[in-house]
Amino acid sequence: MHFSGICVYLCPPVAKQNPIIAALDVPAAEPALKLARDIAPVVGAFKIGSELFTSAGPDIVKKIRATGAAVFLDLKFHDIPNTVAKAVAAATRLDVQMLTIHTSGGLEMMRAAEASAQQTANLASLTAPLVLGVTVLTSSDRRTLVEIGCEANVGTQVERLANLAVKAGLRGLVCSPLEIADLRRILPAHIQLVTPGIRTGAEKADDQKRTLTPREAMDAGANWLVIGRPIYAAENPRAAAEKILSSLA
Ligand code: C5P
Repeated sequence: MHFSGICVYLCPPVAKQNPIIAALDVPAAEPALKLARDIAPVVGAFKIGSELFTSAGPDIVKKIRATGAAVFLDLKFHDIPNTVAKAVAAATRLDVQMLTIHTSGGLEMMRAAEASAQQTANLASLTAPLVLGVTVLTSSDRRTLVEIGCEANVGTQVERLANLAVKAGLRGLVCSPLEIADLRRILPAHIQLVTPGIRTGAEKADDQKRTLTPREAMDAGANWLVIGRPIYAAENPRAAAEKILSSLA
């Protein structure tokens, strides 16, 4: 890979190619690299999350990038604007193509993150990563919101945070598959939607409850699909990824 995958999405209106972001949800560098090498030809990007990053460090980002693959660094930054801006700058210098921040950090924090991505990339002659806003985590429900003093229902809160992210200048959001259609109705068309919670129906039941198939999520308006266990926990991850890709053709 596969700049093709990320590039076509970040440089519309070129035709879409491979929207699969394979989550490298493994605990160490070695299995992550093995998985990445195995499936690189059939996915569009790799997601590195908190577990892998905390155990393997920035080195794993560099090693995956060195294969030519695009990287989504999913560390969900949420802190004071100055600290988030510096974290985004560090991620940008690692040359990741996407990263996440929490929209609940507020307008100023999101603006600082986007500005930092742009300025750092400019200085380093890199392409700025897509800074993705996370709205309400899919593990949260009405009760979780009440616990933290938010009286809105989940849908209303997702819409409020999504609109705030757009106002802050973010160019993408992470959302649950079941939020895609509603968000597409209210968001500008250029906003990229990245969705986890993808299931093909072939895998064992697990903790993802509100899921769509890859085809359904794309038809609803997703740009990118984050897929973990259906690929890495499959008997043959490469074959599983190939099958998902062909279901999108
Ligand atoms: O294995 P699975 O396909 O469920 O993996 C989905 C990936 O997306 C995991 O890395 C998970 O942490 C992430 N994710 C999620 N739900 C969210 C945000 C991120 O499942 N709301």
